[in-house]
Amino acid sequence: MLKRDEWIDLARKLEWELSYVSEREAFPEIVSGRTWLPQQEWAGWDEPYRTTYAEYVANQHEKDRSVYAVRAALGKPSDYERLPREWLDALKLHAATLPLAEFAAVVGNLRAVRFGRDSAWRSTATLGALDELRHTHIPLLLMHELVRHSAQFDWTHRFYHSNDWVAIAARHYADELLLASTPIDFAIATNFVLETGFTNLQFVGLSALAHDVGDRMFETMVTSIQSDEARHSQIGGPVLEKVVQHDRAYAQYLVDKWFWRSWLLFAIVTGFAMDYLTPLESRSQSFKEFMQEWVVDQFMRMLDEHGLDKPWYWPIFEQALDYYHHMVYASAYTYRSTVWFNFVVPGPAERTWLRQKYPRSWDDIDPVWNRITERWREADPGNDFSVHGTAIVGFCDLCQIVLCAGTPRNNSATTLRHGGRKYVFCSEPCRWIFEREPERYGAHRDVVKRVLAGEAPANLVALLRRYFGLSFETWGKDAYRGEYAWIDRDGGAR
Ligand SMILES: [Fe+2]
Ligand SMILES: [Fe+2]
Ligand SMILES: [Zn+2]
Repeated sequence: MLKRDEWIDLARKLEWELSYVSEREAFPEIVSGRTWLPQQEWAGWDEPYRTTYAEYVANQHEKDRSVYAVRAALGKPSDYERLPREWLDALKLHAATLPLAEFAAVVGNLRAVRFGRDSAWRSTATLGALDELRHTHIPLLLMHELVRHSAQFDWTHRFYHSNDWVAIAARHYADELLLASTPIDFAIATNFVLETGFTNLQFVGLSALAHDVGDRMFETMVTSIQSDEARHSQIGGPVLEKVVQHDRAYAQYLVDKWFWRSWLLFAIVTGFAMDYLTPLESRSQSFKEFMQEWVVDQFMRMLDEHGLDKPWYWPIFEQALDYYHHMVYASAYTYRSTVWFNFVVPGPAERTWLRQKYPRSWDDIDPVWNRITERWREADPGNDFSVHGTAIVGFCDLCQIVLCAGTPRNNSATTLRHGGRKYVFCSEPCRWIFEREPERYGAHRDVVKRVLAGEAPANLVALLRRYFGLSFETWGKDAYRGEYAWIDRDGGAR
């Protein structure tokens, strides 16, 4: 029998000459992606870590076995009940937003399996598709079964099929990035931008916190998932290299666009979890510190290696690192019934920690929590709607997230007239992306426009029930019913 090294290069480089169709017909640019180059140009495509299918199956089997062993050992009601309440809300946020996005990534990989321009790329993408299917199945199984403890975990399956405003934003991002992208766009945006940076943040950073919180299930699950990302993310580098060579401006655009869009999403999913929903005693670094370590430093190095520039909006991004997730969290707290997980008010100890971690911004944010604390002091425990906004909020016409970039002192929303319509954006980068591709984004209507068109009810409770698909059991509340030891309902705050 041949040894592995004697056959692997032959097996992964199985190109053949087309005789019945032209290369352009077999790999049309509209599906294969820009920049279209003849196959010979791609022939040097190379993935540094080679894996055979047999090795793949053996490794994955081993990984699955350890995840299922933890599942068998845990899963008693007591394992769930000893987890901190706010941590469970971080889990609900993760469970709804990520597993089915991984499923969209199966499709993105499969498109590369057929339309990727080199056979080694296509073979690696095959394993990538299998990975993403695993990343869909495992969390859907493990996290949806928590529904017996809280109905909000039903949103593990429901979320992407709902018209909840967060789901609209998440689909707007994931449909384009994962489901509908060409293999070239997918390699740069998903494999390069998302998987080498942002997924580390959620899967490695958050798993360290899970370890501290004592959530072995989540820790084992996300560690197991992340170990796959390292392999298939390597598709990104060699594709980017080729596009930089032939169409540098396009490569830079894809990187700039997807870094910004991914940042907005992960600031919510990971930012909320790290700086608000992880109990103080289990926090090691702040979200910003994790971002610096896992995303910013590494991303800068990678851009440099590929001869690309820092995105033009870097000063805006650096300010956002101090503000953005705090702004969205505060905004979402006062609009919490519109989502499927609960929130906590940061207490005096948390606010001291946040001030120390965010010295440049916390003084601006802190008064919001004073006001919310005062409102709770005047309200009965559990009376969420007396500490809640009632007017519908505005959404960005690009990212579909609430218009709350900027700072409490400086509203960064910006508008644009295009094709007889007025658009509003949360930030300059969102507007810039829209202006580059108005035909792609121009027809989308946010929740406010759906309300104005009579498609969605204007009344908040009707909107939650009839349009977002929430119910009293599932809509977001204060995780502690506003009953915090530091809110003294008879006197002042202690
Ligand atoms: Fe994945
Ligand atoms: Fe992935
Ligand atoms: Zn935006």
